[in-house]
Amino acid sequence: MKIKKAVFPVAGLGTRFIPATKAMAKEMLPVVDKPIIQYAVEEAFAAGIEQIIFVTGRGKKALEDHFDRCFEIELSLKNKGKQDLLKQIQELVPKTGTIVYTRQNEPLGLGHAIWCARDIVGDEPFAVLLADDLIQTDKPVLAEMVKKFDRLRASMAAVMEVEKDQTDKYGILEATQVEDNIFRIDDMVEKPLPEEAPSNLAIIGRYILTPRIFELLGKGKMGAGGEIQLTDAMKSLLKEQPIFGYKFEGKRFDCGDKVGFQMANLAFALERPDMRERLIRFVNEIQKSF
Ligand code: G1P
Repeated sequence: MKIKKAVFPVAGLGTRFIPATKAMAKEMLPVVDKPIIQYAVEEAFAAGIEQIIFVTGRGKKALEDHFDRCFEIELSLKNKGKQDLLKQIQELVPKTGTIVYTRQNEPLGLGHAIWCARDIVGDEPFAVLLADDLIQTDKPVLAEMVKKFDRLRASMAAVMEVEKDQTDKYGILEATQVEDNIFRIDDMVEKPLPEEAPSNLAIIGRYILTPRIFELLGKGKMGAGGEIQLTDAMKSLLKEQPIFGYKFEGKRFDCGDKVGFQMANLAFALERPDMRERLIRFVNEIQKSF
């Protein structure tokens, strides 16, 4: 039971980044020099995923073009002898047929977006990646989860502790630690107010799910924010199957938030030898005026 398919819900309008996202998909916003979506796609391939399923919507054409060949640019780079860049853009394009697109034609929430991929995924366990959650780590999260799945054979979500006053931004768990970094989930609730949250252990956008989730999502039950929530379907799944939380190592950035996005840019740029020194000098300098 290998995890071969990964679903990427990418239909969101990105209104938080208007005007940048008026005519551009929010997933194409760059962190340093790579679109946010590319980090997640690379993470999926590195975890052994063979098929990427984008659940898109209107205005996402740039995403399709990004993962396709562009002969014009390739020719121009070749003529200019820019072999490095040529290699980079060629490597970016997955083998033909490994990316599948389907559309979510109503904005009914994350759970609904995943349900839209049901026929493409079929009857096998699969991964879900929310590209907004960008994780800087030496141990790429999905690959670690795939390893855990091989052993635990159950659905799983990446988790981290959040500030107690932030629980209303996340799916929050009631869970029991069973191993280093592994929790058995007892209950979960989508975006509870801090005073109602069972803990401060939050779901972050990496999941491995068994296909039974599609039937539960198919019931179309509306949850928090009037949307079909993945967390609610997982809560129903809990009654039938165990679900685990994997507490990942690394730093997570919320690229769906303007400040989180800026932090991600700075953190990823600081990892780059060609940018690091100048940036540190700049940060030290402006810090004096804070
Ligand atoms: C979604 C999920 C939520 C999860 C979060 C992680 O929420 O519904 O359970 O904690 O992603 O980023 P969203 O951020 O789409 O509102």
